[in-house]
Amino acid sequence: MKAILVLALCVGSFAVSAAENVRLSSLDLTKMRQGWGKPQIDRSIREQPLSIGGRRFDHGVGTHAKSALWIDLAGGSERFTAFVGVDDAAGSPKASVAFKIVADGRTLWRSGPVKLGQPPIPVDIDLRGVRTLILLVGDTGDGIEFDHADWADAAFVVNGPAPKTIDPPREEPIILTPPPAPRPRINGPRVFGVRPGSPFLFKIPATGERPIRFAVAGLPKGLKLDPLTGIITGSISKPGTYVVTLRATNLHGTASRKFRIVCGDKLALTPPMGWNHWYTHYDRVTDKLVREAADAMVKSGMADVGYQYVSIDDCWMNAPKHKDPMRVGPLRDPQGNIIPNRHFPDMKALTGYIHAKGLKAGIYTSPGPFTCGGFAGAYQHEAQDARQFAEWGFDLLKYDWCSYGEIAKNDPDPELVKLKKPYILMANLLKQQPRDIVLNLCQYGMGNVWEWGAEVGGHSWRTAGDLGFELDRIFEVALKNAEHRQWSKPGSWNDPDYIQIGKIGDARGMGEPIDCPLSPNEQYAFMSLWCLMAAPLFFSGDMGALDPFTLNVLCNPEVIEIDQDPLGQCARVIHKDEDTFVMVKDMEDGSHAVGLFNRGEAPATVTVRWSDLGLKPNLYVRDVWRQKDLGKFKSSFTAEVPRHGTVLLRAGQKKYKPQ
Ligand code: GAL
Repeated sequence: MKAILVLALCVGSFAVSAAENVRLSSLDLTKMRQGWGKPQIDRSIREQPLSIGGRRFDHGVGTHAKSALWIDLAGGSERFTAFVGVDDAAGSPKASVAFKIVADGRTLWRSGPVKLGQPPIPVDIDLRGVRTLILLVGDTGDGIEFDHADWADAAFVVNGPAPKTIDPPREEPIILTPPPAPRPRINGPRVFGVRPGSPFLFKIPATGERPIRFAVAGLPKGLKLDPLTGIITGSISKPGTYVVTLRATNLHGTASRKFRIVCGDKLALTPPMGWNHWYTHYDRVTDKLVREAADAMVKSGMADVGYQYVSIDDCWMNAPKHKDPMRVGPLRDPQGNIIPNRHFPDMKALTGYIHAKGLKAGIYTSPGPFTCGGFAGAYQHEAQDARQFAEWGFDLLKYDWCSYGEIAKNDPDPELVKLKKPYILMANLLKQQPRDIVLNLCQYGMGNVWEWGAEVGGHSWRTAGDLGFELDRIFEVALKNAEHRQWSKPGSWNDPDYIQIGKIGDARGMGEPIDCPLSPNEQYAFMSLWCLMAAPLFFSGDMGALDPFTLNVLCNPEVIEIDQDPLGQCARVIHKDEDTFVMVKDMEDGSHAVGLFNRGEAPATVTVRWSDLGLKPNLYVRDVWRQKDLGKFKSSFTAEVPRHGTVLLRAGQKKYKPQ
């Protein structure tokens, strides 16, 4: 007896004495990543007792699809037993999940699709010799709504090192893209909309060694170019389409490209690109931070690849109550004019500062009496505010919904009419202003906003709530947005929220920025998905902490070219299997942008057949992130796609030629 005890002690601090039961719920669950909420110990995701098909369980883990938990068993566990199923509190027939257990890269067990009300499914698997286990919950392909999943009574029979939850293998932030060549390259949009008489402002985005001298052939009357900065200003009085030739010359050569200026009633002919303060500075935003962001946009090279808008989000106004006394004060002056808080002493000077760099300025408000942050909203002052934004010199308005719900509640009109009302009002007011103001609707997709966002005068509309960093969220949102692809076109864009990479806040807690929790491959997938979707590209990380990896993800001009393509198509999705999918987007030059994606926990081989994409055989293929030609491929292309990652291609009958 004594000898056994001594042996157990010698195995080390992780050792557990012979064949002990270790509950899953006793492990560190902060390592669990899931699609919604936080993992729960001995209760469901709704924080109620665990219950599957009417049967109660005292112990277990409540989670939400999609969910992944990596566990290091170090060969010390003999068995895993559990009962799995949809938690009864899910309360919707839409609730359906699929459990899967992967051991050292091999799928050991699958539940198949499980629905709400089904009896608990017993799990009893042999783990002898297994080092790494992954417990997974998938969504059965119908989205993750209501997918409350329980690992009930889940426990390991342990006879050696104790199980320990771990992070997935760490990925190095590898920079895939070569640095910009010294020779000039003109980037960004190839088409630009402006209204007759409105101030025109466009900085020709170009990479290449400075100094660069710019020239434009065929500029319409009323416009002039500063050849040293590449900033075009002025205004056009006569409607029409003007095809001009942009040129950029330096010591190493000249780049030129055709650029269409469309003077009419349409703005945002390609998805707007820029930066928005929200996910970094939240209610800490100041005039100084916004100016610094504008400086960084130019200095970092972001403006050279097409980023243009510097946008203030919520919290620039006064609030009746706030922890920062500088943000508390009268909401409006006696005439009803909105008063910025004391962190914004001179809005006109601020937009002037931004414009002088060839960039544009964005602002935010809400149709309700208060914004989401509790600051003064536009309710009953809409005309005054629209006029004020124009006078201050803003070029974009993000119009939220917050606190308007209270107004809508007392409105007898049908639901859809109520949803449209504040946006129709603001869009019409903006149209009356003597400058072009792009309108971004931010009401989280209510009433299928993509179906009517353009009709009410919006240029883009958020299709869902705030994005967050939940497991699989970027893929989920992209697949969902692709369902609304018919509404994506020049001047009207589905907006899946901002690019949340780099140093960035926690999306919901309004905390100080931290390193992006997404893996490097997830970040490459993020940017690729947004470009394939033709989404507005607004970086929302810290402009004062741009690192080389983040800049690489944000600034590859060939990736951005996919987003900015003048056809404005959102890619279509070709589903392959539960973990991988392919997206294809037709480009104006006849080529195709093709994204291979892997949502799974292990690398996956993905083959794309040209015929499946409706493409003709014999295509040249280019790796867009690496800016590298891969050759000519007869009928298909195969690549290994990293965990939660992408391979982004440009395929065409002709070899890709920059410009
Ligand atoms: C939310 C919106 C966020 C941010 C925030 C400001 O409604 O989705 O993007 O604008 O309001 O309070």
